[in-house]
Amino acid sequence: MSDDTSEQLKKFTFSSKYTYQGQIQEETLEVIIPELLQASYSFYTWPSAPVLAWFLWEHRKELSGLKILEIGSGTALPGIVAAKCGAKVTLSDSATLPKSLAHTKRCCQLNNLNVNQDIRVIGFTWGLFLNNLALIGPLDLILGSDCFYEPSVFEDILATISYLFESNPAAKFLCTYQERSSDWSIEHLLSKWNLKCQLHNINNLGQSAGVNIHDLIGDHSIHLLEISR
Ligand SMILES: C[S@@+](CC[C@H](N)C(=O)[O-])C[C@H]1O[C@@H](n2cnc3c(N)ncnc32)[C@H](O)[C@@H]1O
Repeated sequence: MSDDTSEQLKKFTFSSKYTYQGQIQEETLEVIIPELLQASYSFYTWPSAPVLAWFLWEHRKELSGLKILEIGSGTALPGIVAAKCGAKVTLSDSATLPKSLAHTKRCCQLNNLNVNQDIRVIGFTWGLFLNNLALIGPLDLILGSDCFYEPSVFEDILATISYLFESNPAAKFLCTYQERSSDWSIEHLLSKWNLKCQLHNINNLGQSAGVNIHDLIGDHSIHLLEISR
């Protein structure tokens, strides 16, 4: 980690066109994310995040009132989009990273989301089942963007998700996975933790707004997974 933590603001625009009474209408959401490019990985928006955020935007009519937890939020683009679409969102990042959690709060504030009123931000470390789990409350959906970034964390994440599913059996874990090595896989862990996984097609995301999702993710290979019990 370097000391150069100059902030840059990145704007993400989500839109979609539809026809109402014969007229073409457009709905738009702008999210501003502050990034500290020279800092650690939780201060930067990874290519997986706009993919998950676009999926949520395109399903925004189903989000209103849902209780959502985002894990490993970092700059929290997906969680912020969900909150802007009417979901009750709790963002989280490792409890051992207070600066990351402070940055997550700043991301909320820059998007006019009042922390503790419109959205919550909590320390929640994968694999550590502390009493802050009670804070989270019931859940409909868990989000995770680029949390499977290296194999040493894979099992902690899936054990945590499996644990959360025990009290929320109908919940789903919607996550984006960036393929960094063809040797890495979560398949054996899904079976060990009794989890099912479904792959969503991401190729058409953004199409109604004239956005090509592959322009946002570049050469990266990103998958959108829905994990459930
Ligand atoms: C690759 S970054 C992804 C950040 C963000 N979700 C995105 O896609 O832009 C991984 C995130 O996981 C968080 N993280 C790493 N280890 C963690 C742990 N043991 N418990 C909770 N969060 C953790 C990091 O702080 C970081 O925010």
